Amino acid sequence: MLFKNIAYLNPDFELQQAQYIGVKDGKIAFIGDACPEEDFGEVYDGANKVLLPGFYNSHAHSPMTLLRGWAENLPLQRWLEEKVFPFEDNIHGEDAYWGTLLTIAEMLKCGTVSFTDMYFFGDDVVKAVDKSGIKCNFGRAIVSFADGDIQDIQSFKESEALLKEFQGAFDGRMKIDMSLHAEYTNRRTIMEQFAEIAKAHNVHAHIHLSETEKENRECMERHGMSPTALFNACGVFDVPTTAAHCVWLSDEDREILKAKDVTVATCPASNLKLGSGICDVQALLDKGIRVAIGTDGVASNNNLDMLREMYLCALLPKGSKHRPEIVSEKDVLKMATLNGAIGQGRMDSGKIEVGARADLAVISLDGPHMYPATDVLCNIVYAGSGADVVLTMVDGKVVYADGEYKTFDIERVKFEVQKRTQHIIKEVKSHA
Ligand code: NI
Repeated sequence: MLFKNIAYLNPDFELQQAQYIGVKDGKIAFIGDACPEEDFGEVYDGANKVLLPGFYNSHAHSPMTLLRGWAENLPLQRWLEEKVFPFEDNIHGEDAYWGTLLTIAEMLKCGTVSFTDMYFFGDDVVKAVDKSGIKCNFGRAIVSFADGDIQDIQSFKESEALLKEFQGAFDGRMKIDMSLHAEYTNRRTIMEQFAEIAKAHNVHAHIHLSETEKENRECMERHGMSPTALFNACGVFDVPTTAAHCVWLSDEDREILKAKDVTVATCPASNLKLGSGICDVQALLDKGIRVAIGTDGVASNNNLDMLREMYLCALLPKGSKHRPEIVSEKDVLKMATLNGAIGQGRMDSGKIEVGARADLAVISLDGPHMYPATDVLCNIVYAGSGADVVLTMVDGKVVYADGEYKTFDIERVKFEVQKRTQHIIKEVKSHA
């Protein structure tokens, strides 16, 4: 595809006008003002549109779209125990497959090209990633409530099987991470074994970290240190790690995350909705920590729109710190694109330059909320939403454009999810 006459976000996170941007063999192959001699195929008119690097959703639980609207207005522990766990007990593999496809449909529609996921039903998530054309780093969440040999834990066995079968699958679109669910769902001896094996496999880790005040307090009681200090003591941060939430951190915790080059996936909507608190994003930025953005699962959000997430991510620090100058539109755009790509270990992605992967989103500037075009980036972040996305491209292939999905039947996905969710809810109620 050859984008013609289009504004794009350059690697300095500034808008720049280009006459031509050519995409070939999955990569951005040309940026310039003279018409390229090479044939790039279809020409796309970029008038009144902006080309952005596609979004990297850095923390999600994709099959949880099945739970949209099911567990509302509850704090984390009751949300989990009274609503989420009983529902999850009744999900079967094929339900997870359709739920994940619905997640991916919403993500593609909102310009997301890749997501970092943690859940079970790994085979079904992988199948949906394969089918849809999106990119994904998936980690089978490991949970351990007793000491022992990690090799005996079912979730670990599934994680190993996924690594063996799918690491780098689908031309590298699929990556398998190792995921340790959280401090409060694991024993220290298991965390230590996890770290050793992650190092031996040379893979990325994905964890929940300091989401609630309660988690921190109880970790201090159990281990005499914060969750961050504990993960570090166990060696987990010796591999590239994505730590979701990080709402309750001390300065010492931030020192550790910086020293270990951990990627923080902040999830502002989920933290607000579950009443967990507000992540001090500016304190992370001040320390030079790489911050990325995640939606978390739909059950605590309830959407997967990264533009809405960016909006919150920029506004919450301003409001809570009484400092309107902090966390700019450029900061959050970088978090949602380049930082997310780096966090996933996709070093040639997340930016628009020659040689980078062609993972792109086109935003329309036609809406009334995009006028006047005095500051287009601020319009996109503070007035825009996923509804402004008109095209999403992954590895040079258009997977979504103008309401149409190129890789699956969206009506079938909606039908299956509706039918299957009703069945699951009936099962849950009959067991209650
Ligand atoms: Ni989560």
